[in-house]
Formats: sequence, structure tokens, C-alpha cells
Amino acid sequence: MRSCMWPLYLLAAAAAATTKTTADAAASRPAAAAANGTTALSAVTRTGSTLLVDGKPWKAVGPNVYWLGLDENVVPPAGDPYDPASKSSYPTKGRVTDVLATVKALGGTIIRSHTLGISLGNPLSVMPTPGVVNEAAFASIDWAVYQAGQYGIRLMVPLIDNFDYYHGGKYTFLRWAGLNLTQNADANNPEIQQFYTNATILAAFKEYVTKVATHRNPYTGRTYAEDPTIFAYETGNELLGPVWGDMDCPADWVADIARFVKGLAPQKLLVDGTYGVNQTHLAIEEVDIFSDHYYPVDTTKLQADLELVEAAGKAYFAGEYSWVGPDDAGTNNMTAFFDIIEKSAVAVGDAFWSLFGRNLPGCSSFVDHSDGFTLQCGNPANSEYTNSRIQLIRKHFIAMSQGAQIPSDEDLPTVPCPAPAL
Ligand SMILES: *[C@@H]1O[C@H](CO)[C@@H](O)[C@H](O)[C@H]1NC(C)=O
Ligand SMILES: *[C@@H]1O[C@H](CO)[C@@H](O)[C@H](O)[C@H]1NC(C)=O
Ligand SMILES: *[C@@H]1O[C@H](CO)[C@@H](O)[C@H](O)[C@H]1NC(C)=O
Ligand SMILES: *[C@@H]1O[C@H](CO)[C@@H](O)[C@H](O)[C@H]1NC(C)=O
Ligand SMILES: *[C@@H]1O[C@H](CO)[C@@H](O)[C@H](O)[C@H]1NC(C)=O
Repeated sequence: MRSCMWPLYLLAAAAAATTKTTADAAASRPAAAAANGTTALSAVTRTGSTLLVDGKPWKAVGPNVYWLGLDENVVPPAGDPYDPASKSSYPTKGRVTDVLATVKALGGTIIRSHTLGISLGNPLSVMPTPGVVNEAAFASIDWAVYQAGQYGIRLMVPLIDNFDYYHGGKYTFLRWAGLNLTQNADANNPEIQQFYTNATILAAFKEYVTKVATHRNPYTGRTYAEDPTIFAYETGNELLGPVWGDMDCPADWVADIARFVKGLAPQKLLVDGTYGVNQTHLAIEEVDIFSDHYYPVDTTKLQADLELVEAAGKAYFAGEYSWVGPDDAGTNNMTAFFDIIEKSAVAVGDAFWSLFGRNLPGCSSFVDHSDGFTLQCGNPANSEYTNSRIQLIRKHFIAMSQGAQIPSDEDLPTVPCPAPAL
């Protein structure tokens, strides 16, 4: 360990892990010993607009870490699984524990991760071709879910992507159904709505969701559906219709998928993955949480979203926001955005876009992603500005998760490399 600032609660967790007594986590990890000895986190429940763990209000704050199941940013050593066409590879175990330790050190409680649920259409994915499961693809997901549980970090997992990235999404199912559609050429093609409306495609998607949710994790003895570490499934990521911003993800589809997922995984919360709060979805009984994304942060849009969700008596989660400033005196101001969420009675949390960490097994470099929103904690190359944004995020996480304030001059925590597997 090269850190002198490894937070005490992490040291305790690491020590306890060697004996598996986990006294550190008594509050968040009681009961329910699994098949081979790992204990389950408590389930998260919802009462009205409040989420509860063990009867106490609980907040979901953290980053998006989209690559936990399948990555696109690292070319692995020769001989390791790699799909050059999609640039897909599996993240190393060390990269996963590195980001979990980082989230913990920042005071976060959750990670939202696309590739724990969306893994389609390329040779390394969970479902490379229609109906066919690639068991090898579960190894990295199993590890991430297992270690997240050990670190006490819960997971929000989207089940389909509106877009056509390396890990697949609604276009994968459209192509499997014989519709020659791609994101670039067909974003405005009304035919893409067949993802929501075509019975054949709906059945194929449900079959996929069943395969993902009922996979049994050998590390824990639990299926993903049974494992409370995944506290919420989200119908999808940024689901839209053929017009940008139209929120045209049919309410019937949302209700059907929500019911279906709750049938498979009755203890999980369900997030409506429509891109924006669609008023016609607010009455869907099986939806627990509504959500929106912010590029840049926008306090006016946030207030409007919160008002809608409050009136419906549901919970609200800001699923993605840009951490990149600058803050202004108007609506694009992350400090003001956090203030609103911290004071809101219906906002249960948020996740910034997006966290990367060190390129383990090496500890000397960080993994980069090219979208302009990559945040790396502890990178010596970070600007003062970047570190000040990390500090703002950390203060927000701690205010939300512990109800505490940290002094503004307190140093950012550092995380040892490698971070322990717990
Ligand atoms: C739904 O998709 C199937 C499979 O591609 C196709 O045969 C069928 O015509 C589609 N249904 C409609 C209503 O377009
Ligand atoms: C699919 O559509 C693209 C144009 O969008 C076309 O270039 C390609 O040939 C088509 N593929 C098939 C199999 O029809
Ligand atoms: C749990 O058991 C499985 C075999 O069923 C094994 O692969 C896995 O390593 C075990 N996990 C732990 C943490 O002991
Ligand atoms: C909301 O969902 C409804 C029902 O599915 C859909 O008709 C509508 O286009 C969506 N968008 C808005 C802005 O209401
Ligand atoms: C951003 O919002 C905070 C909190 O409302 C405020 O104190 C700060 O002055 C704002 N920043 C700018 C540049 O106006």
C-alpha cells in the first residue's frame, strides 16, 4: 500500500475480509448467508419517495462505471480475449476493485453500470448471436457483482441501450429481427419503434433479460435476480423514439417490462430508463424511480423533473450528469444542482458520468476514454480544476450518504494500488 490516507473504514473492511467475520459491515450486511459463505447486503425498499435500508432512509450516490462487465478502452495482452471490430475486452479484476475502493473512499454508495446488464451482439458479449449465451462473458460480471457486495457498494443496472455501442442495445435486437437499421443512419427512422412494439422482438428481449437475471454467480451462490447488491434494474439507458428528446418509449412497454422484471426479481427496485420524465409513465405501478440525464447540469430541468415525480409519490434519481463545468450564475451550476438534490424530499441520489481508474495490473497509468467526461481520482496529471470538481462531488456524496459536512480544505483521499479484493 502506498497510501498513508487509506480511510479507516476500508482498512477495517480489508482486515475483516481475511477472516470473513465482516464486523465492519454489521449494519449493512446482516443475515442471509449464501451457499458458500458470502453474506448478502440488505435489500433496498421504497416507501413513497424514500428509499430505505434496514428501515432507515438510504441515498444512492456514485459514478457511472459503464465498463464493469465489458470494456472498450484497453487492448489486452496478446492471447487474452479481444474483439478488434468492437474493441471489446474484459476488465481485469484489479480495475474493478480499484474503482470500488475509489467510490468507497469518496463516500459513494452505488455504481450505475451499463455492461452488467447490456451485453449483446459481439463475440465477447453475454449474447453474441440470437438466443445464444456465452457463459464466459459472465466471469467479469460475476466478479464485479461479488466485489461490489463485499465493498458494500450497490449497483443500478440498465437492461438495454437506446444506442448502438460496442456492448449492443436495441439496434442489436432490431437487426436480429431482420431490420437493417443502425444508429447513425436510422436514429430518426420510425421503424426503430419496433423495438418496443414488435411482439417477436419483445419476446427475444425478455428471453435475454431472463438469461441475464437468472445467471447464478459462483462467488456468491446467488442469481443476479436474488442478489440485493443489484438494488435496481433500469428498463434501459436513455430510451427514446425517433426524435431526440421525444421521451417516446411507450408506456405500455415500460409497464410490461417493469412487471416482467419484478416477476423475475421481486426484491429489486425498478427504474424507468426513458430519457426524461414522461408524465404518461408516472402512474405505472411497478416503476419505483424516475430519472433524467444532464449535459450540462441544469437546475431548471432538475426542478421540473422533481416536481413531476413528487406529485406522483415516486422517487427520483439523476442517472447521469456532466461533472465538467464551468459553473455559471444561472442554471448550469453543479454546486446548485447538488444543493437541490440534497434538500429534495424525492431525489434519492445521482450518478456522474463517468469514472475510470488505473490500468491494472499496472498501477502507473490510468485508463482514458475519449468522450470528454472521463474522471480519474488520484491521477497526478489531474488539473487543480479537476481535483476541485472531485472535491465537490465527494462533499455531495458525504452530505447525501452520511448527512455530514467535510471541511473544504480536507485533502482528497487516496486509494492504494492494487486495492484489495475483499
Ligand atoms: C416483427 O418482426 C418480425 C421478425 O422480424 C417480422 O417478421 C414481423 O413482420 C414484424 N412485425 C411487424 C408488425 O412489423
Ligand atoms: C443495410 O443498409 C445499409 C444502408 O443503410 C446498406 O448499405 C447495406 O447494404 C444494407 N445491408 C443489407 C444486408 O441489406
Ligand atoms: C464459491 O463457490 C464457487 C463454487 O461453487 C467458487 O467458484 C467460488 O470461488 C466460491 N467463492 C468464494 C468467495 O469462496
Ligand atoms: C411519453 O409517452 C407516451 C406514451 O408512451 C408517448 O406517446 C409520448 O410521445 C411520450 N413523450 C411525451 C413528451 O409525452
Ligand atoms: C453556483 O451555485 C452556487 C450555489 O447556489 C453559488 O454559491 C455560486 O455562486 C454559483 N456559481 C456561480 C459562478 O455563479
